[in-house]
Amino acid sequence: MINNKVKEILNEQINKEFYSAYLYLAMSAYFDDIGLYGFANWTRVQAKEEVDHGMIIFDYMNDRDTHVELKQIDAPDTDFTSPVQVFEKVLEHERYVTSLIDSIANLSLDECDLATRNFINWYLKEQVEEEKNASDVITKLKLFGDEKASLFLMDEELAKREYKKHDYN
Ligand code: FEO
Repeated sequence: MINNKVKEILNEQINKEFYSAYLYLAMSAYFDDIGLYGFANWTRVQAKEEVDHGMIIFDYMNDRDTHVELKQIDAPDTDFTSPVQVFEKVLEHERYVTSLIDSIANLSLDECDLATRNFINWYLKEQVEEEKNASDVITKLKLFGDEKASLFLMDEELAKREYKKHDYN
């Protein structure tokens, strides 16, 4: 059983992970609209991974006999103007998510919930990857510029991303 404070922050995080899925789907729709189907693929794969992130916490709470409360998911930001602007939003969002994961790590330690503190290590590691992925795309977009030829090449690269179910282990 998990205490109420840790339960609340984990329920919030499930909501944030599903919000992340919504946000990436909104980005995918934007890229689809402007004909960048590789970018649309990359963000769509990311949306699926975010659902996995939410479900891993969902399963963990059930395993610990703790009530899951599914909260309302906010509508995502849809103010997208260019590929680089979208990926800057991705990086900003992932840095925010990292701060949320840090809060869970700190709270679980304060509450002597060492099982949750151990559980959240997977997310701490995952966030390093999430920030790096976004940052790498921004670097390439800035390096090659946003001319049509370079966007076409980036689009081809991002089209290769494949979804693999994210497991806790
Ligand atoms: Fe679930 Fe992108 O962090």
